[in-house]
Order: sequence, then structure tokens, then C-alpha cells
Amino acid sequence: MKRSRFYYICSLFLLVLMLKQNPSNAQQAYVNNKQLDCNADVNITDGFECNGVQSSCQSYLTFRSNPPYNSAASIGLLLGAEPSLISEINNYTNFQTIPTNTQIIIPVNCSCSGKYYQHNSTYKLQDATETYFIVSNNTYQGLTTCQAMINQNPYGVKNLSVGLDLKVPLRCACPTGDQIASGFNYLLSYMITWGDDYSAIAKLFGADVQSILDANELKADSIIFPFTPLLVPLKNKPGKIQVSQSTPPPESPPQLPTTPTEHKSSTKKWVFVGVGIGAGVLLLLSAFLIWFFCGSRKAKPQPIPVPPIKRPPPQSHSYSDEKSWSVSTEGVRYAIESLTVYKFDDIEKATGFFGEANKIKGSVYRGSFKGDDAAVKVMRGDVSNEINLLKRINHSNIIRLSGFCVHEGNTYLVYEYAENGSVTDWLHSKYETSSTLTWKQRVQIAYDVADALNYLHNYTNPPYVHKNLKTSNILLDGNLRGKVSNFGLARTLENEDEGGFQLTRHVVGTHGYMAPEYIENGVITPKLDVFAFGVVMLELLSGKEATAGDRDGGGEELLSASIRVVLEGGNVREKLRSFIDPSLRHEYPLDLAFSMAQLAKNCVAHNINSRPAIPEVFMTLSKIFSSSLDWDPSDELQRSSSLTQTYAR
Ligand SMILES: *[C@@H]1O[C@H](CO)[C@@H](O)[C@H](O)[C@H]1NC(C)=O
Ligand SMILES: *[C@@H]1O[C@H](CO)[C@@H](O)[C@H](O)[C@H]1NC(C)=O
Ligand SMILES: *[C@@H]1O[C@H](CO)[C@@H](O)[C@H](O)[C@H]1NC(C)=O
Ligand SMILES: *[C@@H]1O[C@H](CO)[C@@H](O)[C@H](O)[C@H]1NC(C)=O
Ligand SMILES: *[C@@H]1O[C@H](CO)[C@@H](O)[C@H](O)[C@H]1NC(C)=O
Ligand SMILES: *[C@@H]1O[C@H](CO)[C@@H](O)[C@H](O)[C@H]1NC(C)=O
Repeated sequence: MKRSRFYYICSLFLLVLMLKQNPSNAQQAYVNNKQLDCNADVNITDGFECNGVQSSCQSYLTFRSNPPYNSAASIGLLLGAEPSLISEINNYTNFQTIPTNTQIIIPVNCSCSGKYYQHNSTYKLQDATETYFIVSNNTYQGLTTCQAMINQNPYGVKNLSVGLDLKVPLRCACPTGDQIASGFNYLLSYMITWGDDYSAIAKLFGADVQSILDANELKADSIIFPFTPLLVPLKNKPGKIQVSQSTPPPESPPQLPTTPTEHKSSTKKWVFVGVGIGAGVLLLLSAFLIWFFCGSRKAKPQPIPVPPIKRPPPQSHSYSDEKSWSVSTEGVRYAIESLTVYKFDDIEKATGFFGEANKIKGSVYRGSFKGDDAAVKVMRGDVSNEINLLKRINHSNIIRLSGFCVHEGNTYLVYEYAENGSVTDWLHSKYETSSTLTWKQRVQIAYDVADALNYLHNYTNPPYVHKNLKTSNILLDGNLRGKVSNFGLARTLENEDEGGFQLTRHVVGTHGYMAPEYIENGVITPKLDVFAFGVVMLELLSGKEATAGDRDGGGEELLSASIRVVLEGGNVREKLRSFIDPSLRHEYPLDLAFSMAQLAKNCVAHNINSRPAIPEVFMTLSKIFSSSLDWDPSDELQRSSSLTQTYAR
């Protein structure tokens, strides 16, 4: 690995630098590129010290717009900040695409967590190449460090896998007594980039250079590094960052010597800068720069800018790049702009302040927005997975996400309201309800779900696997039409070239619905949903739950296993009759029930290759469905008596 060698070299240089460190307790020490070496955990990398007057305060971060984090909404989600406040300060609407590399100000609440100030955010790993370093440096642009993330997450550096939720402590700080005495009310964590120097940074915020130097315990000749935060003390709340189109290069750009030069009475200092060019994982270490300069205090020292090493070309708005999700294509933009970002106040009002009376189940509440009912689901942390998926999906059998709100680390997802609850409620309710689903309604629901799965597997780009299909995730609207919900575990299947499947070490799901290859080997393919759908069909047929009996006591029975007993061997007709939900009271066509049971049995086949793909399942179901529409309950007696041959096959 190039990077590990790089770290090794860095560590050597860090030792040199550490000897030169002169910590002072006055304000905050600058991270000084120590965030690069994830193995060396020095306390400056863990955060800014809790040495301010307040233990929590309003604070600000800067972030550079970079797809897919290029709208107030997506940046807010990434950073655990309020999108509406971001859009307000930066003069954008919530879903407006912000040009790549534009600096955005993010207001966040900063508070002491142990010894350090931080603002909490969470991130769900999306890609197998992501490491603590990549997430902290590349995704979060240096707003956090790999060391702080390693300290605050229970997962070892080798134990990361796609889908894990990581805590991301973002660096922020509250003003010290000295700063408040000088009239500073806020500290902004500015992310340094190529070509920055103190005076240019000060100018952006109308601050003075000396206050910045003091805030970071730096000297005018100290070097600053890209992708590290620099605290900028502010008297007033910051506004949109105005960048003049042609920022002139800093006055008298210093000529960077490539070989050491001597200065009388100079202090030797080694500086290195690692540059990774492009979006790839490989680090291109382009240069070690050796730099000598005067340690003596000059009357008017020149601020030393970050060495103007060849900077990666600014990323253009890529319209054709399929992999990096871009909101620039019209269809997607339409979808995303149809999402509403709600104010927290409105969510509170709509749900009667999350009153018990409005609680549907768990953390889901009924809300009324301008007279329209909606379901509000409260989720902890980053739920961008579900939002990103649902906002680009438009299918009548998939629950529609109409908007969301991010507030204090929680995300409130606002969905279309499904008046009739979940299929579980209907099939397995403990309370004797007078109504039960009729045969036609059950087939309709199965057909709706197959339609939704067929869409997810074959008509979205990239294709998705739901991964958590079960009757409690199938909701019913006013007409008892099925709507698939709960996409929290859904996964894209992008790497078709790798055989169209993925592996995970992080097997999660509901017992009774998980396919054997997933439980045993973590294999993720669309056949996972086919298996779960088979179980759903069996529940619709039998009214039984996916698992019955006692799991530990050994008396457990899986519905997916019991169907084999029903359809194999003799006496199929009688066994099937007793399998089918007694609350249907024989008002169902036995031949169609048999076809559906056969289909379900194929779907729950142990061998992944014996399971049909969803288009085939959907087609078979659509035949069963249309035959069911023609079926008249009064015919049943005659029809079922002529079917004995079918079962004998
Ligand atoms: C930083 O670490 C050193 C020892 O490694 C310790 O003496 C010092 O108290 C620590 N500072 C803070 C603020 O935790
Ligand atoms: C905000 O943006 C709009 C156009 O997008 C512009 O007309 C307006 O002047 C901007 N306001 C400020 C305060 O920059
Ligand atoms: C942030 O997370 C840390 C643990 O990682 C926790 O101790 C702290 O209370 C959290 N802060 C807030 C404001 O939620
Ligand atoms: C990483 O995973 C291995 C195997 O699952 C486990 O033994 C080890 O304790 C884990 N390490 C950490 C730091 O979580
Ligand atoms: C850190 O991230 C930036 C992009 O934010 C990237 O240009 C740079 O190469 C990364 N640094 C390293 C050492 O990978
Ligand atoms: C920050 O704190 C204030 C006051 O405690 C609160 O009103 C506000 O909603 C918080 N903001 C976020 C983004 O959590």
C-alpha cells in the first residue's frame, strides 16, 4: 500500500515536528497535519480542547460543495446540520445545486463531549474502499480526523463494512475568555485549501490576521496545510462567503525552493504535503518539500501560504458520470426538488408534539400537514441511504417519501400515510378484528409487492435489493393496495461486473425471512428479496407468522420449511386446505391457492439457483391475480372438486 509507506515516512517527520511543539493552554493548538497519521493518536487530533467559557455554543464550519454533497439538503444530512439554516446563510434554496467547490458556511451546535468540543454527525459506509481516513479527509474534507473517529467508534480499522453507521465528531470550538473579552462571539472552523494564506482567509471573513494566529496558537510564519481546520474568531454571525471571481495570487508568491537553502540563524523545519490527485483511492505523493525559513521575528513577516503545488483540476459538473450521483440530470432534479425540507416546528405541530395519541407504532407518528395526513418516522443519525433511494423512486407500490427534516441529530422522514396499517396487523393481529382480508385482496397485495420488487430489481438505475421485506414493512392504503416501505437496509447492486452480487460480514434482517445464503455467507443478490417475498406469500395464504414456536426450545417452525411438507408427498389437497388461513372460511379458489403456494415454495427454495427471478414471479402472480378477479366465490364448490389430478402430479 502506498499509503502505509506514506504514513511511515510521515511518522518520522511528525516526530521531528512534535519536538518543536510548544503547547500553550491559551487557545486552541493547530492540528498541524497530524491528522494524516491515523496510527499516531496525539490529543490534538482528537478535537479542540474544552477550554471555552461555555460548554456548548453556536459555531460554524465551512464545507466545499462536492457532488453528491452539493445542495443544502445533502450537505446538511452529511454534517448533521439543519438544511434550512444552511440555505438561509448561503442564499440557496434547499435543493438548488451548488456549483462544485463553492464554500458553504454550516451553522452547527458545538458542545463538550469529555475533554473535547465536537459536533456529532453520523455516516453510513457506502463503499468497501472507505476507511476512517478516507471518510474523515475526503468525504468530510478534514472536518474530522481519522484518530477522533477511531476513538469514538467501536469498529476496528479492519472491521469496517458497507452499511455500518459511524459516528463522526466534527471539529468545532467555543470562544475562550480572552476571545470573548476581545469581542469575539463565534469560532468558525475554516477548511484550508490549496493556495490559502492567512491574509486571504482573514479577508474572506473580514477578520484580522492576528486574531486568527492567536486563536490557533500559530505564528505568522507557521505553515498551514490543506484539509485541516483553522479557527477563525468572529464578532458577528457569518454571511455567505463572497469570492471575487479573479482572486489574485497572494502578493509576492514565494518561490518554493526544491533544495534546502541556508539562512543565518534559521530554524530548520521540515514540511511535507501529501497530495492525492483525482478521486481515486490511490495516493499520489507528489512532493516532499523542504523549507527553511527565518525563525527570528521580522518586523513584518510574510504569511507563508500553503505551497502552491499543482492542484487537482476542479471537478466539473459531470453530467455523464453514472457512478457519482449527480442531481444535475433533469429527472433526478425533478424528483429531489419534489422533496420538502420541513421545519422542525412544523413537524412538531403536525404530530401534536409527538403526542401519544398520534403514535402509530415505535417511532412512527401520524401527522397532519395542511390537512393532509402523513406518517412521520423519527430516525437517529444519518438516513441518507433511505432518502437517496426514495427520492428517486416513483412507483405506486412503494411508499412515497414527501419530505424530511434534520434536527439535533435526528432525521424526521415524512411519508405518504397508509391508512390501513401493515399487512402484519391484518394477518396476525392479536385482537380479534371483525374484518379479514379476502382472497382477492390478498392476491392483489402479493401482486403489488411483486410489482414493486420487479421495479426495484430491474427498472431503477442502479438496481436495488430491499433486503428487509416482511409483512410489517408492507403497508396498505385506503384501498388496501400494498406499498413497500422501510428502505433502511436497501442496497444498490452496482458492481454487476463482479457477478452481480456483493458480500457482507454484517448480516442483519428478520429471522424467518432471511435467505440461507445470506445468513451463512452474507451473499446479497436480488434472490434475497425473492426468498422473503415467498415467505410473505405464505403468510398471506396461511395467516401464519414467518416463524412459529420457540426458537431456543428447538420447537421452532419456519413457514418457509412447512410449505414443503404441505406440497410434497400425498394428500396435498387436504394438507393445503388445512394450511390455508381458516379466516378465509373456504372462500378461495383452491386451484389458484395451489398455484400461489407452488410459486411461494419455489421462491423459498434453499438453493439460490432454483429460486425464480422476480420478473417470472411477477408474471405468474399476474396470471393468478387476473384469474382471481374472474373468480366468483359461489363457483368454488364445483370447481375445487375437479382438481384432484393437479395435485397428483
Ligand atoms: C495530551 O496528552 C498528554 C500526554 O500524551 C497529556 O499530558 C495532556 O494532558 C493531554 N492534554 C489534554 C488536553 O488532554
Ligand atoms: C441571493 O441570490 C439571489 C439570486 O440567486 C440574488 O438575486 C440575491 O441578490 C442574493 N442575495 C444576497 C444577499 O446575496
Ligand atoms: C456526541 O457524541 C458523544 C459520543 O460519541 C456523546 O458523548 C455526546 O454526548 C454527544 N453530544 C451530543 C451533543 O449529542
Ligand atoms: C474485528 O473483527 C474480528 C473478527 O470478527 C474480531 O475478532 C475483532 O475483535 C474485531 N476488532 C475490533 C477492534 O472490533
Ligand atoms: C484528502 O482529501 C482531499 C479532498 O478533500 C484530497 O484532494 C486529498 O488528496 C486527500 N489527502 C490524502 C492524503 O489522501
Ligand atoms: C442548536 O441549539 C439550539 C438551542 O439549544 C436549538 O434551538 C437548535 O435547534 C439546535 N440546532 C441543531 C441543528 O440541532
